[in-house]
Amino acid sequence: MEKTIAVIAGDGIGPEIVREAGKVLDRVCEKYGHTFHYTDVLMGGCSIDAFGVPLTDETIRVCKESDAVLMGSIGGDAATSPWYKLEPALRPEAGLLKLRKALNLYCNLRPAYLFKELADSCPLAAKEGGRNFDLVICRELTGGLYFGERYTREIDGLVTAVDTAVYNENEIRRIAVKAFETAMKRNRRVTSVDKANVLDTSRLWRKVVAEVAADYPEVELSNMLVDNCAMQLVKDPEQFDVIVTGNMFGDILSDEASMITGSIGMLSSASLSDGTFGLYEPSHGSAPDIAGLGIANPIATVLSAAMMLRYSFDLQEEADAVDAAVRQTLADGYRSADLMPKGDTSGLTAQSCSELGDRICERI
Ligand code: IPM
Ligand code: MG
Repeated sequence: MEKTIAVIAGDGIGPEIVREAGKVLDRVCEKYGHTFHYTDVLMGGCSIDAFGVPLTDETIRVCKESDAVLMGSIGGDAATSPWYKLEPALRPEAGLLKLRKALNLYCNLRPAYLFKELADSCPLAAKEGGRNFDLVICRELTGGLYFGERYTREIDGLVTAVDTAVYNENEIRRIAVKAFETAMKRNRRVTSVDKANVLDTSRLWRKVVAEVAADYPEVELSNMLVDNCAMQLVKDPEQFDVIVTGNMFGDILSDEASMITGSIGMLSSASLSDGTFGLYEPSHGSAPDIAGLGIANPIATVLSAAMMLRYSFDLQEEADAVDAAVRQTLADGYRSADLMPKGDTSGLTAQSCSELGDRICERI
């Protein structure tokens, strides 16, 4: 199989982790006889440095003409980086939001499951029989509070900031369909998360999700308020299969879900449109504090590349092989710095970002 991949390494640890995902994809090509053509493009802070804007039309064009996009992470330290002295629409994050919109990537899947090898890193209280959860957050990615009108101006003599949450029924329906389709391939349970006791957007959300549910009689739908969901994720994550929620709630809950897997360095993501095109990036950020030290955890990016094989290229066996290689690497005791337990480290081997990538490749 021959495919084209646009690569956005980005800022901070982005280039380091994307390099490892690239190694893993090369190994997959070698073993299974595929050819992937990569085109590097800039986005985020590095694009600001080169072109004065976080996202150029050229980057959008290359992404649109590719079969998929592999991304690292963007942004810097807001307190010290000059990028954050620019007006908000010119900062690194604005580039990412614009790219998601330009590519119509309205569905963001963020799976969170506990590797049994990392059970000791899970910060949740021990449970009889051990913890064992496997859920996926289906986050709406091109609407809601992120894309409504926003401004800061003086109103009645007071500086006032306004952000607007907007959802129309079509935006809700298409993400609900993705969530139910995802659930049909898993354990057939959807939890729709909203704040319907306060917000109009949430009341419409609940109504439209219920309408979509009627087309999926095999899937069990329940509704949950977002504050309760935040609590349930740390109390009993085993109860969830697919969580479908709006842009802002999904951003927050997915960081929470990643932490209960032991480290935010483990959570992959796929941002999908209609059809097979997708953008694949770890759920975590650019970690400027550890950039260049070679200690970043590449696993979330490697698992994102596996999602690319699965969702954009329909290479299920290859995707399974990458997932299995990550699991085996952990089972063999190899750990990046963030995965090293504070106490007893016997049987474990500390690895740099690049060494961990090598260990994964060796197991494919
Ligand atoms: C994420 C990130 C982004 C978001 C930021 C960088 C704009 O936190 O992908 O979760 O909020 O969507
Ligand atoms: Mg986030």
